[in-house]
Amino acid sequence: MKIVETISAIREEVRKLKAEGRSIGLVPTMGFLHEGHLSLIEAARAKHDVVVVSIFVNPLQFGPNEDFERYPRDLDRDERLARNSGVDILFCPPVEEMYPGETAMTIHVTKGVDVLCGASRPGHFDGVATVVMKLFQLTAPDEAFFGQKDAQQVAVIINMVRTFNVPVNIVSCPTVREEDGLAKSSRNVYLTEQERQEASFLYQALRKAAERAQAGEHDRERLLQYLTGLLEGGSGTIDYVEALSYPALERQEKLGGRIILAVAYHYTKARLIDNIIIELDREEA
Ligand code: PAJ
Repeated sequence: MKIVETISAIREEVRKLKAEGRSIGLVPTMGFLHEGHLSLIEAARAKHDVVVVSIFVNPLQFGPNEDFERYPRDLDRDERLARNSGVDILFCPPVEEMYPGETAMTIHVTKGVDVLCGASRPGHFDGVATVVMKLFQLTAPDEAFFGQKDAQQVAVIINMVRTFNVPVNIVSCPTVREEDGLAKSSRNVYLTEQERQEASFLYQALRKAAERAQAGEHDRERLLQYLTGLLEGGSGTIDYVEALSYPALERQEKLGGRIILAVAYHYTKARLIDNIIIELDREEA
């Protein structure tokens, strides 16, 4: 596995691979790798000659009061995990390499960000789109692999490649969970022991709400009340609960077709997100 830290070096690697006609699968991450990330690497490996993984904690996507400074980092461990997973190139540039000097330009996402994490993290998806666009420019992947756990992120990236005609296919992979159902996340290490024990109730609540919707509860307001009720006994606080069309992320009072049920929940030191995507019958108007 090659470890690459500079823009000139990654460009040179990619130039050689392209000259050899090899296909490239890219897995962008912020490191502190877990089985969720590894499942994306696995999916990329199954389809491509070369797997590039980027590890970059992107300051642009963190708000002023968010956890950029204390985001968990362990590059030695990540290197080991990446090597053992068959990664070919690990791209881990320092911040100054990706953002030398003052930021003069960013991508501004104007659709699909007035809901879910876009609403509670203003500017977050501008930062995500900007860094992912840079990573696409640097690694010229045939396909890039993202997790459904961050469903809004996938929707934003799909929209971005369409908008800017970026020749990359976006692959969305299923959420990997702990045995009790908690979605794997680098931020789970922030949970206290008691919070960790409780936290699987997020997914259980989503499942119950999904079942209720599939049993015929298509009224958005009532379904969200039910979901809120399931979460109210927890020791943290709800950031949002939401039910939207997917992937358009639009509100419908009467739910129908493909929808996403999503939740964001604050614990003492971690904000967790999770979602389920389900198909509902469309009711006659
Ligand atoms: P990060 O949170 O490190 O996640 C990297 C990728 O792993 C994302 O596509 C995310 O959806 C996926 N992922 C995380 N947990 C997962 C799980 N439990 N199951 C399946 N996939 C999972 O998302 C980011 O980094 C950043 O925003 C990034 C895209 C790298 C841009 O900075």
